[in-house]
Amino acid sequence: MSTAGIHAGWDAAADAHNALTPPIHTASAYAHSSHAELSALFQRRADGFAYSRSGNPTTAVLEQRITALEHGIGAVAVASGQAATTIALCALAAPGGHVVASSRLYGGTTELLDDTLADFGVTCTVADPWDLTAWDAAFTEDTRAAIVESIANPGAQLVDLGALSAIAHARDVPVVVDSTLASPALYRPGEHGADIVVHSATKYLCGHGTTIAGLIVDTGRFDPRRCPQRWPQLTRPNRRFGVTFAQEYTRGASGLLAYARAKYVTDFGTTLPATSAQQILVGIETLDLRMRKVSADAAALAAHLQALPGVLRVEHPTMPGRPDAAMAARDFPRGTSGVFSLELAGGEAAAAAFCDALSLWTIAVNLGDARSLVCHPATTTHCHLTDHQREVCGVRPGTVRLSVGLEDVADLRADLEQALAVAGAATGTFTSTA
Ligand SMILES: Cc1ncc(COP(=O)(O)O)c(C=O)c1O
Repeated sequence: MSTAGIHAGWDAAADAHNALTPPIHTASAYAHSSHAELSALFQRRADGFAYSRSGNPTTAVLEQRITALEHGIGAVAVASGQAATTIALCALAAPGGHVVASSRLYGGTTELLDDTLADFGVTCTVADPWDLTAWDAAFTEDTRAAIVESIANPGAQLVDLGALSAIAHARDVPVVVDSTLASPALYRPGEHGADIVVHSATKYLCGHGTTIAGLIVDTGRFDPRRCPQRWPQLTRPNRRFGVTFAQEYTRGASGLLAYARAKYVTDFGTTLPATSAQQILVGIETLDLRMRKVSADAAALAAHLQALPGVLRVEHPTMPGRPDAAMAARDFPRGTSGVFSLELAGGEAAAAAFCDALSLWTIAVNLGDARSLVCHPATTTHCHLTDHQREVCGVRPGTVRLSVGLEDVADLRADLEQALAVAGAATGTFTSTA
């Protein structure tokens, strides 16, 4: 993992100037030696770069690196994690398909399914991924994709992806896994049955809160030719592009990604800038080290906080009674990331006082930054959801999400303790002895 994170996708000896790290190619378009060469690119008879909206040499290095890290067959880099989820679901299920969605998803994904994809005629059934009977019952004849997070945001709930995928695959339905919180340093969804992996690279892959980016990876499991009538956009000759995208699979490449890039990335214009790709490449070089530290520090902080007055509940897989403890031990031996949540006695008032009293932790809605961050999901990331949708995700009025950064864990703990004391005193709901 650490070796591929530094070397995959880049060979300095093959670069015109032997650049040791991948250069940032900012050109909008590429010069061609002949009319025939450029028209071959447009007619998909040759590989190469014509115009940076649909591909760029710097983003191509990032695509190769994430493909190597996820042990996939290909990847497409896009402008944000939200674009990655949107394009993956559109390529599989638009127009008019049905999606089975985990009840514990990032709020933006739930809103995408409830609102914008619904406008495109994509319907959705939500199911608890810990209830395999409910998951099984959610599939219909029209289901074109299932989507789940490997580590859910914000409660860090894990899933038994092998079991969920087996149910989906029995119906020839591909499983899309948002693995943003895990990153390939902790978990490779493809090894547990995922067909497509999406990342908000904005988070841990970047690691420093500098860049918005998204990635879609094909793990190589999905082949639409097994059920050709269900995926006509891939298995039939495409009138617009003059090709049958599924033929890509015969050369070991991804027909789904070729289709996603040609149609959705190009039409929606969700291009990842080369400067952003380079920031993510630099971030990935330290991913393995960072994920080990934040995972260990988050587990230690979670264990410490659960015993403190005023903390009603800590949502972390290592907490007593969590149904996913066995999944953590079996599938996440390297840890479960730096994200977990606390529920404070005193509801939103206590959560607000706690956030305001922190000095080292910053109030911000990002996660996976080098800096420790805190936010109140009920009024931010999950604010457009219904009370029921929030409750299912473990988001209550007193819930705060923590994203552990790279600071000294003793400093982080001391700041949390003093903020807890302030919140207890301010709301009169508890007295912190910490
Ligand atoms: C789990 C998860 N998926 C997707 C996204 C969307 O990513 P982006 O903000 O890069 O568009 C987020 C953002 O918070 C997230 O937490």
